[in-house]
Amino acid sequence: MSAVFELPITDWNQTFSQELTEQAVRSLEQGDVLILPQLHFALSEEENQFLSPSIIGKSKNVSFDPKTGKVQGSIVDDEAAVLLQKMMQRYATFAKGLMDHLFPEYQQDLIQSRTSYRPLEIAGRTTSWRKDDTRLHVDSFPATPVQDKRILRIFTNVNPHGKPRSWRLGESFEKVAQRFLPHIASPTWGVSGFLNSVGLTKSRRSDYDHYMLRMHDGMKADLDYQATVEHLAYDFPAGSTWIVFTDHVSHAAMAGQYVFEQTFYLPVHAMNDESQAPQRILERMKQQPLL
Ligand SMILES: [Fe+2]
Repeated sequence: MSAVFELPITDWNQTFSQELTEQAVRSLEQGDVLILPQLHFALSEEENQFLSPSIIGKSKNVSFDPKTGKVQGSIVDDEAAVLLQKMMQRYATFAKGLMDHLFPEYQQDLIQSRTSYRPLEIAGRTTSWRKDDTRLHVDSFPATPVQDKRILRIFTNVNPHGKPRSWRLGESFEKVAQRFLPHIASPTWGVSGFLNSVGLTKSRRSDYDHYMLRMHDGMKADLDYQATVEHLAYDFPAGSTWIVFTDHVSHAAMAGQYVFEQTFYLPVHAMNDESQAPQRILERMKQQPLL
């Protein structure tokens, strides 16, 4: 089962000893969740207006693209939109700065993707089983194949009422794969090319992406598994930050409101020990290349 590894970090722009960065990368790559209990993301008085689910209308969250600076998903007026954009940009910049200092060996290869702000309460939200993140799963996105890249995410709980973000952490990736992989049919020839040609995926879905997506769905669809599998309940306190490879760590977000999240992609070859990547684990189990 995943463990939670605590780091005494207090500043987004802090520099660290080599000992700490080596410890952090080892722990992260073996499937721990790194928790930074003292790393807050402070909102200004003006930004407190965004501590409300009403700013997103029917969207699930506010989404920000650090490459273009474009914000999506909010329904605030033009004046507030400028402020919201600055807040999203600030989190994106802080997150990248922290990653660069904490994982210096990733810096050359780390790809910064979308930033999100999630002002909705998770508990009790109605959604389809496939999108229900209160069920244990490993991350895999139907429209966004990752191929040879890892999914690395950083989260910060900014709940103003002291409410934690409650997660469950499931069994190890190897155990998940041993349980679900044998029941997954091989990809059908031609399907990935077709999905890509009609725009249903943003790039070609590799065999690895196929197996990950089926594992994600298999875990969420299996209610008996959800009810009985060994897990650790963990509350990320308000004002804390955590970092995790969400393609590797079985996780479920059970409750909580107001969280920032920044997604990064990391090519497998940039890892310190790529034998721990889900790509390599599944290849060993299937005894064939999947990319
Ligand atoms: Fe997830």
